[in-house]
Amino acid sequence: MAGWLGSRVTANADHRGESLRQGDVAILRFLAAAEILETDLWQQYNELALGNAAFQQALFALDGDMPTYVNQNTRDEISHAQFLNAYLASKGARPVNLERFRTLPSSQATGANKNAKRLTNLMNLTVDTSWYTRYRSTGNPDFGDTFPQIVNLVNVPAIPNSDLALGGDQIQVIGNTAGFHFATIEQGGSSLYDSFLPKATSVEVIRIVAAIGGTEIQHFEVWQDKAGNAPPVPMDTGSLFPALPHATEQTPNGIDGADPIDTNQIMARPCKFISPNLPLCSVIRPTSTANAGAMAAATGLTNSGLFKGQSKEFFAALFELAEEADEAQRGF
Ligand SMILES: [Fe+2]
Ligand SMILES: [Fe+2]
Repeated sequence: MAGWLGSRVTANADHRGESLRQGDVAILRFLAAAEILETDLWQQYNELALGNAAFQQALFALDGDMPTYVNQNTRDEISHAQFLNAYLASKGARPVNLERFRTLPSSQATGANKNAKRLTNLMNLTVDTSWYTRYRSTGNPDFGDTFPQIVNLVNVPAIPNSDLALGGDQIQVIGNTAGFHFATIEQGGSSLYDSFLPKATSVEVIRIVAAIGGTEIQHFEVWQDKAGNAPPVPMDTGSLFPALPHATEQTPNGIDGADPIDTNQIMARPCKFISPNLPLCSVIRPTSTANAGAMAAATGLTNSGLFKGQSKEFFAALFELAEEADEAQRGF
């Protein structure tokens, strides 16, 4: 098979006599691809968060540390991609290289590396914000539960494509969109890593999936907290974005005395897990292959518009990696 997709092959046993099973290689290769794509989108956010005064000001409205956190998240994704590919190579397996798909244009706003070619597109995003209600609910997608959007973000930019006024509504809408998209991306990563844990065989691969997956959860937790600070601004439709329920002293409901949907309910509310007959449990959700696995992730990201403008070859490559990763089964 041509290109970088020759992955239906068990890794060579040329590293101290150890080799990885085909399923473990497939898991790590999809994760490497996901991390490369994550790195690409975070780099675009990072350039503007640090180098575009208007975008930075919009992020400051969510938290004074937002640009720093964007920078740290970007650093982490770079390290994930580099580590996974280096580990694959150390085991004689083929690393993932997406460079031939680096064809999409950059933002032309101040701060962006305007001539760089990208893998992802942050200009036309449909952002799934249902994590906000999902993580504040006792339901779990793995039991068929569905959750409403907290705000409808359809085909909107998450970064400025040109220079916008400091303090304008338009740039704050973009900053708020970015703030929600940060959490959308990282909750997906949290679920994705968890979906692979029961499928990995090598104890070392389990350690890798668990430990990197743990940092995706850290990322999500921070962004879920910050999104709750987004200031309401009028959108083109006239409605306010976002209009979030804030905690008040007068809404005693639930064991902590606050409404489950309040902005400050940022820890995973106990939900159904494993069996509805067992007690509710505070966990990452979903974690099933169907709802959280590689195909679900690739489909969700594609439907979000993140790859708008990419080639047929790109999607074929991404979905082949995803299919192989989801097929992985734990061996003995
Ligand atoms: Fe990552
Ligand atoms: Fe991440």
